[in-house]
Amino acid sequence: MIVTVTSYKGGVGKTTTSIHLAAYLQRLAPTLLVDGDGIRSATKWSQRGTGQGLPFKVIPAAQMAKHLRGYEHVVIDTEGNPSDEDFRELAEGCDLMVIPAEPETVATDGLIHTLEKLQALKVERYKVLLTKVPPPPRTEGKQLREMLIAEGFPLFAPEIPRLAAFEKAAAGGVPVYDIKDERAARAWDAYEAVGKEITNG
Ligand SMILES: Nc1ncnc2c1ncn2[C@@H]1O[C@H](COP(=O)(O)OP(=O)(O)O)[C@@H](O)[C@H]1O
Ligand SMILES: [Mg+2]
Repeated sequence: MIVTVTSYKGGVGKTTTSIHLAAYLQRLAPTLLVDGDGIRSATKWSQRGTGQGLPFKVIPAAQMAKHLRGYEHVVIDTEGNPSDEDFRELAEGCDLMVIPAEPETVATDGLIHTLEKLQALKVERYKVLLTKVPPPPRTEGKQLREMLIAEGFPLFAPEIPRLAAFEKAAAGGVPVYDIKDERAARAWDAYEAVGKEITNG
């Protein structure tokens, strides 16, 4: 399966989502993470680990052809501001587009722009994932979910809570389940639930 993680908005959790979906898929079958962002956040994440690091290989997009063979699953992390052409080609070349959306930035129009593009390009296989959802009593996550459902956008049932464990995981160069943090298990459970929704259709 080829999963592309993309959005016109930066900082919404694309790389964090790519890393953890790849970690999930790797448990099922050999998985490759393609770093399609010039900033190379996923590559840097993979190089920071001093211990076991990440359980899958991370390669730059330019090396994709060289490495694809032998992998059952491919996750593609992308840059924050793709050209329309790149966006269309990314959509055509994958089984599912995952669109991370951070409730707090709904006021900015990155998400709306992304969703309009998806509709204009008639992309069928995509799903919005709420990320960095602030804890109760904050209601932004619920509001955004209701808004997206009302507009008929496809949405993952599980959502990703805003947890410092994710930042620690990036700093440590590991998936969040390898972080010593009382909320690390909760953080991983959230992505595991998303991974299950992807693989169970
Ligand atoms: N669920 C989360 N909770 C808290 N911080 C997060 C979460 N997801 C991502 N972050 C942090 O937010 C910042 C942007 O995340 P990143 O995955 O790099 O987004 P993008 O790839 O879209 O730019 C990073 O500092 C990352 O550690
Ligand atoms: Mg990124």
